Amino acid sequence: MENMQKIAQIIKSAKYLTAFTGAGVSVESGIPPFRGAGGLWEKYDPKFIEIDFFYAYPTESWQEMKKIFFSSMNEAQPNTAHKVLAELEEQGILKGIITQNIDNLHQKAGSKNVQEFHGTINYLTCIKCGARYPLGEVKLDSLPPLCGCGGVLKPDFVFYGEGINPQVYDASTMLALNSDVMLVIGTSGEVMPACSMPVLAKRKTPPAVIIEINTLPSAYTGVISDYYFEEKAGEFFAKLRQELKK
Ligand code: APR
Repeated sequence: MENMQKIAQIIKSAKYLTAFTGAGVSVESGIPPFRGAGGLWEKYDPKFIEIDFFYAYPTESWQEMKKIFFSSMNEAQPNTAHKVLAELEEQGILKGIITQNIDNLHQKAGSKNVQEFHGTINYLTCIKCGARYPLGEVKLDSLPPLCGCGGVLKPDFVFYGEGINPQVYDASTMLALNSDVMLVIGTSGEVMPACSMPVLAKRKTPPAVIIEINTLPSAYTGVISDYYFEEKAGEFFAKLRQELKK
């Protein structure tokens, strides 16, 4: 097991600490991951969030999305991992987070510089007129939800077959290239192009120090991770918070 004291020292002396997060950082907030035990893709067919399926069958797509994303994510609260990351940003230590998550929990915890690589469930956009609505203003009683113009509303997260928002892509790339230390938390590291962000940080000169926290080894473990903590994100960050106070 790696030494928390050493990690706290690395983090305190980092010049540009960043974080790359995946679904695992929100599991202790009650949101299931996509892969591995209890993963969403073991139960559901991801086709419902393929963009062509959504345009062809908006009602079916919305029925699955409401069941799988909107119910669990709406109630979820940030856990210790989200909160400590926000505290590290507040202290000027963490410069930003690149997240693959759409659950808005980093922002709920107080993080400001959050690059949502896969967008967010927090807003919906009309596919006809482009009007944008905050989730709180949209009723999901009848599906699909409609814009005032009659057009179908689509959640602002990236569907399979859609591109990544160029501004977010660029900002995420800059975070990765500026990092001297990157925390890689709760991600299987399997989905491109998001999963290339930690690799960018590692492959640049000088390479970033990669500190990985995951309950299971990932595509990064033993490849680019310099430190690997095989434990829950919430538990790791509770210990780190204590160590940073010393
Ligand atoms: N603490 C830390 N890691 C955890 C925890 C936990 N409590 N629980 C699970 N994990 C780890 C799992 O071991 C796994 O490696 O989190 C990872 C979750 O992996 P995925 O479910 O593949 O999630 P992610 O890597 O974010 O997926 C990337 O895939 O389907 C797309 O768009 C979706 O953004 C998502 C992308």
